[in-house]
Amino acid sequence: IRSVLLFEETLPRQFVVQAEKIKEDYENFLSLYQWKIPLKTNYILLMGFLSLLIIFAALWVSLKISNWISVPIQKLAYATEQIARGDLDVRVELKRDDEIGMLVDSFNRMVRELKEIKLSLENAYLESDRRRVCFENIVENIDSGVVSVDEQGRVVTVNSTACRILGLKAGDLVNRGYEEVFNYIESEELRQYVKGIRLSEFGSATKQFDVKIGGQMRVLKFFISNLKDVQGHSLGLLVVFEDITELLKAQQALAWQEVARRMAHEIKNPLTPIKLSAERILKKWRRGDDDIGAVVEGATNTIIKEVEQLQRMVNEFSRLGRLPQIKKTVTRIEQIIEELKHIYRDFEQRISFEIDGSIPEVMLDRDQIKRALMNLIDNAVAATNGDENILIRVNYSENSKQLIVVVADNGIGVKEEDRDKLFLPYFSRKKGGTGLGLAIVHKIITDHGGEITVEDNQPKGTIFTIKLPV
Ligand SMILES: Nc1ncnc2c1ncn2[C@@H]1O[C@H](COP(=O)(O)OP(=O)(O)OP(=O)(O)O)[C@@H](O)[C@H]1O
Ligand SMILES: [Mg+2]
Repeated sequence: IRSVLLFEETLPRQFVVQAEKIKEDYENFLSLYQWKIPLKTNYILLMGFLSLLIIFAALWVSLKISNWISVPIQKLAYATEQIARGDLDVRVELKRDDEIGMLVDSFNRMVRELKEIKLSLENAYLESDRRRVCFENIVENIDSGVVSVDEQGRVVTVNSTACRILGLKAGDLVNRGYEEVFNYIESEELRQYVKGIRLSEFGSATKQFDVKIGGQMRVLKFFISNLKDVQGHSLGLLVVFEDITELLKAQQALAWQEVARRMAHEIKNPLTPIKLSAERILKKWRRGDDDIGAVVEGATNTIIKEVEQLQRMVNEFSRLGRLPQIKKTVTRIEQIIEELKHIYRDFEQRISFEIDGSIPEVMLDRDQIKRALMNLIDNAVAATNGDENILIRVNYSENSKQLIVVVADNGIGVKEEDRDKLFLPYFSRKKGGTGLGLAIVHKIITDHGGEITVEDNQPKGTIFTIKLPV
């Protein structure tokens, strides 16, 4: 190298500052560049952590939401299962103000009400069972026969008294047709009566029938009633019956005892004056007194009078025994009433006659029924004075197929203690009365298969009611 040429140029200061800054920045860049990877990793980790945090938060929130709905539903499902198994004490414990809370409250209320209904049903069942047992016990132990028949005419129950009266075993009749009863009771009248019952219109009836059971005559008193449900549909018949044969016999025996007692009393009365008169005649005759003629005359008159009284009594008594057999003919009760109006025309101020509705023709012994009614009217006339009145009313009961005649007065009335004796022969509270009037009425009515009863009229007086089967 032979020569060196030097040039010097002064650079502007700003240029140098700029160069220095570039150099510094370059060095900064270089020093930062070596942090590039650790920083990047750092950021990635941070991002990952944040993402995970968000995912967990989302999961937690969704879990909370699902719990909020599914837990009550699970509880409800569990409770429903318990209820299905019959446990009505189960409750879902949850208090909330939202729709689920309302659902749970309604569910709990429903279960509570269900339990109450179940309890009341159980109580009703227990009560009805208790009544059934009680009723069955009563029916089994009462002294009357009880047979129930369903609407198809099949025998449903027969109690032990019915079996005893009819001489059968319960199993002999249950589930059989009611006609089979007539294998045990022979009575055409009863058979016809039962056949004639129409369940749609029948109410109840009390009837007495002479029947034959095991070849023996018995008197059975029946109470037949139609069993109806709340809508009034017939469920069949309930038949209650009693064997009153012995009772009737005992009553008759008692009645005859009473008759004998009264007759003895009535005969004794005239005997004393007869005996005294005869003794007086004997005494006078023995003593040879002068006035024997007058004494014989007086005493014989007394004897004749008393004997006549005795004769009258015996005649009346035999009339009761000689009441002719009833002869029933087709009769219009209106005709009898017309005749009675004529007979009692002198008392027309006091006596009124009424006929309710139309009365069918009936089979009656005209004369005897008239006689019975006359006896009742005579008694009523005797029991009343001019201001009081007497009503004779006739009507026909379609239900019980009975002709009903009422003789009512507002006279002196019958004393409580006399009521049972009215129909006995020789019972009289009247001076000169034979006491046979009502005994005759009673005989005529019972011969017709009817009944006569007596009760107090209101405010005073007496009502006699005659019921005659048509
Ligand atoms: N309507 C009546 N009101 C009040 N008492 C009555 C009535 N009917 C009857 N009696 C009472 O019953 C008794 C018996 O009556 P019953 O007809 O058998 O005999 P009697 O009337 O006394 O006698 P007779 O009929 O021979 O006149 C009567 O004495 C009377 O005391
Ligand atoms: Mg009388």
